[in-house]
Amino acid sequence: MNNLPNQTVVEISNVCTRFGDHIVHSGVDLEVRKAEIFALIGGSGSGKSTLLREMIMLQRPDSGSIQVLGEPLEHLGEQQATDLRKRWGVMFQHGGLFGSLTVQQNIGLPMREHTNLDDALIDEIADWKLTMTGLKSAVGAQYPSELSGGMLKRASLARALVLDPELLFLDEPTTGLDPESASEIDELVCKLRNQSGLTIVMITHDLDLLWQVSDRVAVLANGKVQAMGSMQELSTNDNPAIKVFFDGPRGRAAQDQEQRLPHTSTNAAKATNATSGSSPSKPK
Ligand SMILES: Nc1ncnc2c1ncn2[C@@H]1O[C@H](COP(=O)(O)OP(=O)(O)OP(=O)(O)O)[C@@H](O)[C@H]1O
Ligand SMILES: [Mg+2]
Repeated sequence: MNNLPNQTVVEISNVCTRFGDHIVHSGVDLEVRKAEIFALIGGSGSGKSTLLREMIMLQRPDSGSIQVLGEPLEHLGEQQATDLRKRWGVMFQHGGLFGSLTVQQNIGLPMREHTNLDDALIDEIADWKLTMTGLKSAVGAQYPSELSGGMLKRASLARALVLDPELLFLDEPTTGLDPESASEIDELVCKLRNQSGLTIVMITHDLDLLWQVSDRVAVLANGKVQAMGSMQELSTNDNPAIKVFFDGPRGRAAQDQEQRLPHTSTNAAKATNATSGSSPSKPK
């Protein structure tokens, strides 16, 4: 478990990343707290996916440090890295499922790699995770190419959850989905955090998702985090790199919708969380 005193689950300090002459990060600092839904936003090419890849050890920054679940990534040995990887789940933007395996086999794969469970139990757990994300059991027998975009996202989420992670990374969980499927994903993300206290780090351009679901948001621009706070706080920030997200027609529409919405179960649950100190206020 995370044993940092202030319950910081991810801590990024002064991270610098460059590709040749192209400087992507020039001193990124941020921290993600336990049980919050933390969003990373920024323009295309601002380095969001690169930062995510660095957090999950697919890439190393040129300098700076990253701690995840209390472990400094730059100092991990091979076994420690393998042990740490089991403690998080990743939902990749395009699903990342293997086309030659059924959905059930895909979901079971992390258990086959990391546990000694027998096949029958793996299939049973995979089936359970599948239904937990709102898919029917029968979908387990299908291949990824037979699924719709929304079903693929759910199946990918089921796989990310299969080892009961403490931390979940989501790369664009609603991109390309119709509004109904997108709002089902919104609800699912909230439910996961509220029921199991998961910490969630997501990259998204989806303003509805940001207003409805996120506790805190970091805005990445010009190589650095320009601001970190609730959507309410960011929406009144005068920094041009931040205003750009709120001033377009889509930004205003999402904000108007948030202010009109009755605050139902999601927000009630968030309010409960806020009392425990993990969730800053949202617009009422
Ligand atoms: N392996 C690589 N080699 C060279 N340049 C790279 C590599 N990976 C990323 N980049 C560059 O780094 C910059 C940041 O890329 P990144 O994918 O992190 O952006 P992003 O913020 O996720 O953008 P988007 O919103 O479009 O997904 C881009 O200019 C990209 O071209
Ligand atoms: Mg990206």
